[in-house]
Amino acid sequence: MDESRQGEAIELPKGVSDNGKKLYLESYGCAMNFSDSEVVASILRDKGYTTTRNEEEADVVLINTCSIRENAEQRVRNRLTNFNKAKRKKPGMVVGILGCMAERLKKDLLEEEKIVDLVAGPDAYRDLPNLIEEVDGGQKAVNVLLSRDETYADINPVRLDNAGVTAFVSITRGCDNMCSFCVVPFTRGRERSRDPHTIVKECQDLFEKGYREVTLLGQNVDSYRWNMTSKGEIKDETKPTTNFAQLLEMVAHVNPLLRIRFSTSHPKDMTDDVLIVMAKYKNICNYIHLPVQSGNSNNLKRMNRGYTREWYMDRINAIKRIVPNCGISTDIISGFCGETEEEHQDTISLMKEVKYDLAYMYKYSERPKTLAERKFEDDVPEEVKQRRLEEIIELQMEHAYEINKQQLGKIEEVLVEKVSRRSEEQMVGRTDRNHKVIFDRKDKKIGEYVMVKITDCTRASLIGVIVE
Ligand code: SAH
Ligand code: SF4
Ligand code: F3S
Repeated sequence: MDESRQGEAIELPKGVSDNGKKLYLESYGCAMNFSDSEVVASILRDKGYTTTRNEEEADVVLINTCSIRENAEQRVRNRLTNFNKAKRKKPGMVVGILGCMAERLKKDLLEEEKIVDLVAGPDAYRDLPNLIEEVDGGQKAVNVLLSRDETYADINPVRLDNAGVTAFVSITRGCDNMCSFCVVPFTRGRERSRDPHTIVKECQDLFEKGYREVTLLGQNVDSYRWNMTSKGEIKDETKPTTNFAQLLEMVAHVNPLLRIRFSTSHPKDMTDDVLIVMAKYKNICNYIHLPVQSGNSNNLKRMNRGYTREWYMDRINAIKRIVPNCGISTDIISGFCGETEEEHQDTISLMKEVKYDLAYMYKYSERPKTLAERKFEDDVPEEVKQRRLEEIIELQMEHAYEINKQQLGKIEEVLVEKVSRRSEEQMVGRTDRNHKVIFDRKDKKIGEYVMVKITDCTRASLIGVIVE
């Protein structure tokens, strides 16, 4: 989360000729945004754009942005000042903002950031070739229309991650939950699910191209539904319906050598059915991201999360019962509106009860137009938010280390993902449970499965040796 990524060089498909223009694409925010950038690259590639990793060389610069916290937006604004220099050298350069900031700020972005020529929201990417043409014609261009049915289902995304082993596959877009702190429903629009057959086909294509892991993506994968209304009524009686557990099973059948992960699971909607399917298929990884946000039921109520601490713990116990040795990760927010010291302590005690493998931990950042902004005061002082966050991080580091130490001596199947940044002689991969493992490469190649004995660990990763 919250990292940035730059586009890789891509090849033009057969029958498409080079239009002489180079695209530079940079992405921020969550996996959905990285996945969308691959859709964007595909749409523009089909119009003859080639890509570059050097912004100074670009004719079109597109930045896919995130609005989740104030600092995510600030990062993009700082980055924009860097493009001023490139644009001065190349006055015809088109600078466009895509993604969540585009949707949140709409045409105001053109006013606030003079360098921006183009603003396109997450459902407007098919229109990008036209929008770029408008800018070339001397105008500023904006399309921030949200859609109720756009899923880009027919677009085969260009893979921008060049290792060719793991890929994101989007299964739903938007979000219908109104967590009071969250800007996503405003920037991504209504929730909609993608046709399951296009999902399975994309996974099959990826497998045939050598990919060995897919992560199915949605803001709340458990509310995936095809041919069903949100109330569970069948839309077309002549066709089958598909829920998330069924979709998982369909994807598991693509090939036993294709690992399947998914994110994000929502505690209020995650059913035992999903866990039972996870337990049934070896290639569905034993790992679940189940954001808790807070360990206190009153705080959860203000957050409008739709569950209590007890409900959440019941889901955790279901995971531990049905999927033994399952890794669990979470998201936590410190210092949400009205959070008392006791409420914070409840988050600490919940962490001790669950013991997460991994956690993404944030200070609450008020977002315009959200329920919390309208209803509550952002009343926890900055230094208290910070101190609580530090306590949460400290405890999480202890837990991660403890869990890593429990892996010592185990023999794990590891999917080799890349060469280690530290040494050409070492490879990096992940276990089923999503632990990162570093080991001497021997003759192993990226994309292979290897059995690794865990011999050592740090707080962040496991260290092992290949066993035959
Ligand atoms: N759909 C996912 C979350 C997507 S946003 C879910 O429901 O769990 C990723 C994470 O960012 C959230 O889980 C939350 O922990 C954090 N987050 C969202 N809005 C935030 C805000 N206003 N301030 C701080 N953290 C926030
Ligand atoms: Fe935001 Fe809640 Fe939707 Fe997650 S489920 S994207 S936190 S509104
Ligand atoms: Fe950010 Fe939008 Fe994702 S706000 S976290 S990029 S859905």
